[in-house]
Amino acid sequence: MIQQMSRRLRERDEIRFFLQWLRRPGQVGAVAPSGRALAAALAAGIDTEASGAVIELGPGTGRVTKALLDAGIAPADLVAVERNASFCEMLRRRFPGVRIVRGEARSLERLLRREGVGPVKAVVSSLPLLNMPPAQRRAVLSAVAAVLGDDGVLVQYTYGQAAPVPRALGAELGLTGRRTGWVLANLPPAAVWCYRRGASAPGLSRAA
Ligand SMILES: C[S@@+](CC[C@H](N)C(=O)[O-])C[C@H]1O[C@@H](n2cnc3c(N)ncnc32)[C@H](O)[C@@H]1O
Repeated sequence: MIQQMSRRLRERDEIRFFLQWLRRPGQVGAVAPSGRALAAALAAGIDTEASGAVIELGPGTGRVTKALLDAGIAPADLVAVERNASFCEMLRRRFPGVRIVRGEARSLERLLRREGVGPVKAVVSSLPLLNMPPAQRRAVLSAVAAVLGDDGVLVQYTYGQAAPVPRALGAELGLTGRRTGWVLANLPPAAVWCYRRGASAPGLSRAA
């Protein structure tokens, strides 16, 4: 019974997501929400013991939001920034304890200041970075680099072989990253990348 209900909910997510993709393919960036395995892999990139806020960019239907909560992030420490009004409305109903901020990732610094959020230990992004025009991608990543604390991490997935943060841009913003895994059980399969500030970030020797 519970399994049936959860399957129906997932099917509805898939339909809602697909309809939003039809309306704004470039912004939504995928035809289906993240699968459970991908969401769990993203959440695994975060140190749940460290203090600080976790910012989710582009939560969509909330698959990653749920995985972050399941991994032990307290709802009060999670702030989800989404620009699609329909997704925001659904996320507020589904995750009443999580702060859902309707807004542009490019304006992250201003949004977090307005919400009184800080320091930030992690940014988990489902944004379609490689679909964005270069100026927008640069603006989003500059905002992320500006809010991340010294030990902070940016966790980002991508569907291609290429790094989600182009090497030159990462170097300019002081973000060093590496692919931490592939999730084949996702449609399409996805690569998870973790970025930290500073070229000598521990464990991130293979620069993107
Ligand atoms: C690939 S989808 C996210 C999928 C999500 N993980 C899920 O499972 O439903 C990307 C999301 O990023 C949002 N988005 C795209 N560009 C954005 C921006 N500049 N600022 C905030 N949200 C954005 C889209 O509205 C969409 O919900």
